[in-house]
Amino acid sequence: MKNKGSYPSEVYLNGEWMPPQEATVSVFDRGFMFGDGIYEVTPFYRGKPFHLQEHLERLRYCLAQIKIPFDITILEPLMFEALSRAGLTEKDAAVYIQISRGTAPRTHYFPDDIKPTFLMYAFPVQLENFQQKRWKVLVSEDFRWQRCDIKSTALLANTMSNEEAITGGYDENLLVREGCFTEGSHSTAFFVVDGMIYTRPEGPLILSGITRKVVLEICRDLGISYEEVAFPVVRVSEVDEIFLTGTTTQITTVGSLHYEGEEIFRSQKGEITARLQEEFERRTRK
Ligand code: PDD
Repeated sequence: MKNKGSYPSEVYLNGEWMPPQEATVSVFDRGFMFGDGIYEVTPFYRGKPFHLQEHLERLRYCLAQIKIPFDITILEPLMFEALSRAGLTEKDAAVYIQISRGTAPRTHYFPDDIKPTFLMYAFPVQLENFQQKRWKVLVSEDFRWQRCDIKSTALLANTMSNEEAITGGYDENLLVREGCFTEGSHSTAFFVVDGMIYTRPEGPLILSGITRKVVLEICRDLGISYEEVAFPVVRVSEVDEIFLTGTTTQITTVGSLHYEGEEIFRSQKGEITARLQEEFERRTRK
């Protein structure tokens, strides 16, 4: 089902707070013309940021990868301001940050000395009861580019993949490249076989998820074994549990997987996922 979403009451654009209808950007903004920009989504559990420094560090990495000069030290206080202006300091929320290269006459090469376009706003997110969800997940070919480690606003392949899932009655699309699972259209994937967790290693074919890092830290703390390796689709019949992670996905159980009209996985047990969810809940709510 498609949730219509909603606009925030205020956004921060290039140094000023304003209502979204007044926040306008040039048609020559490279974010508009090329998707030449990056973004970040940071969760706040009842006003408390969760792994804020890791989100800022990923933002810094992405800006450096695409050579956008931007001083990220201004961000942290503005994120708290976004939350309080939106009246979300006691609620579950997230802060969206987007930085594009800025406005200049259209050229394929990066223009010199232009000012990045900077957008930020806070929005409410439902972060409760994730433990109860059982997602029906479509499996399809990963046709994205080979720098998925850059959290680029150029998300057309992700949105096309997600659209295919949602209109088909699924909750997410789990992508496959060269016979191995990469990640979901907006989430990281984990597979459990005989008590061992498998997840793809960080690299250019997936986003380095912050929730992924948290889950692996929990595994180390609880003594749950894991291996960072690409998981082949042909081994899906051996799988006991699958879960997807992300800032808004948290740790969501995959109830079933569907590939070319056939169900290729149905969840039977979920002990490991449940242990991770319980510890995740504890860490996010402490
Ligand atoms: N998406 N992989 C992709 C392709 C993603 O878009 C996301 C997150 C993740 C999980 O990353 P993290 O745990 O850091 O949220 C993995 C965000 C939330 C979004 O696009 O809105």
